[in-house]
Amino acid sequence: MTRTYEDDLSEFAPGPNPPELSTKVPFAMTDTNFVPKERYYSREFFELEKEHLWPHTWQMAARLEEIPCPGDFVEYEIVGNSILVIRQHDGSVKALHNACRHRATQLAKGCGTLLGGQIVCPFHGWRWNLDGTSSFVFIESAFDAESMKSDDLQLRECQVEVWAGMVWINFDQNAQPLKEALSPVADILDSIAVGNMRVKWWKQVILNANWKITQEAFLEGYHVMQTHPQLAGGSGDVEMGALQAQATEYTAFRNGHGRFQSGAGLGELPMSGDDFIEFNRLLAEGQDAMALEQDVKIFEGIRNKVGVDNPNFAEEALKALYDYAYGAGIPMAEASENLRLWGGEIFIFPNYFMLPMYGNSLCYRMRPYMDDPEKCLFDVWSLTTYPLGQEPGRAELLGIFDKEDIEHWGLIPRQDFSNIERQQQGLHSVGFEHHRLSPQFEKTILNLHQELDRRIAAGR
Ligand code: FES
Ligand SMILES: [Fe+2]
Repeated sequence: MTRTYEDDLSEFAPGPNPPELSTKVPFAMTDTNFVPKERYYSREFFELEKEHLWPHTWQMAARLEEIPCPGDFVEYEIVGNSILVIRQHDGSVKALHNACRHRATQLAKGCGTLLGGQIVCPFHGWRWNLDGTSSFVFIESAFDAESMKSDDLQLRECQVEVWAGMVWINFDQNAQPLKEALSPVADILDSIAVGNMRVKWWKQVILNANWKITQEAFLEGYHVMQTHPQLAGGSGDVEMGALQAQATEYTAFRNGHGRFQSGAGLGELPMSGDDFIEFNRLLAEGQDAMALEQDVKIFEGIRNKVGVDNPNFAEEALKALYDYAYGAGIPMAEASENLRLWGGEIFIFPNYFMLPMYGNSLCYRMRPYMDDPEKCLFDVWSLTTYPLGQEPGRAELLGIFDKEDIEHWGLIPRQDFSNIERQQQGLHSVGFEHHRLSPQFEKTILNLHQELDRRIAAGR
């Protein structure tokens, strides 16, 4: 019988981790209300993540459209390891550790195309085929035959699986299959057709903050009232903000994954036509993701026909969106209960997010940067669903932009970035001991920390 995510849900009862875990994990999660602050800057904790989390977890290493043709490659770096994700001649993808089998030189950097289908070491010119098999050793007769065995010269491989237009890698050859590890969130995302989406733009920012504290800024909507007042009616009104915050439901899944979504279908929200259009305009202008200019145009287009006082404006707006998509050949997800996720979020443990809306999605990935527990590299993608046959070509990183760069970051991300480094600094205060979590709003933060402890403990 196929497991549904309700099955997974019903069996998952978030509670405290077994107390014996804390003998194996420093600064462990011993209380479900608190997160010890050292987890965000301790070198010891960071080293345990490097040893027991990153080499054994599935990671989103690349979007497929970064490597559209055979020989295309992109480098993915994680805690001192560099991986080359390479499109093969048959269209499949391999992920190879980026270290020459002679004397360790990194074979390629950044992204590009491997000319002649060969990976060539820039130091002494050894070569490999796209699949990592050795194809040439310069004056091979000068080496002892013992050290020239072909399977030993082959570049070391990671496990690779492709799902929803993304390349997922795992260093651990014994890791559980991706779909199992991503249960139940992969199925939920499949049901809203995220696999049909393609990159509209992709940018990075480097923040002086731990990778976990950075991502926790995106795991709840509790901060919207204060951090993004324009999205909460603009006034910072506490009662309005509370109503909005309470309308969101949070779910912690097994394996550390999480979700939040609207308690009601988007079309069922009591919102005037003006408020609905304005909210979407703020999203489109404020981040150019989730709601896009094109969506706002569609909603504007029905303003007069439907009437802004019509209590069913949002429902009519979504109908108009589907009509447009149908006419334009845009493969949208079937309307279903899961469209409650539009405007919500899926968190894939340990560090990948999708925030889908209207056949678009904002996506985030956070990872440690430069072997520093207090720095992270943060990727941001805006995805959208293009008409069939009109998908854009190769996706490329637009650049790494400063967190205050108003040309490259909209108001909404700048508002989020502004608190993250202040939080990291606050952690070092002698007047602060631990984060204090709300079981209602911050349960997915608790869940990810508990899963992290289980992973670390399992490896020791
Ligand atoms: S280090 Fe690569 S060929 Fe020598
Ligand atoms: Fe935010």
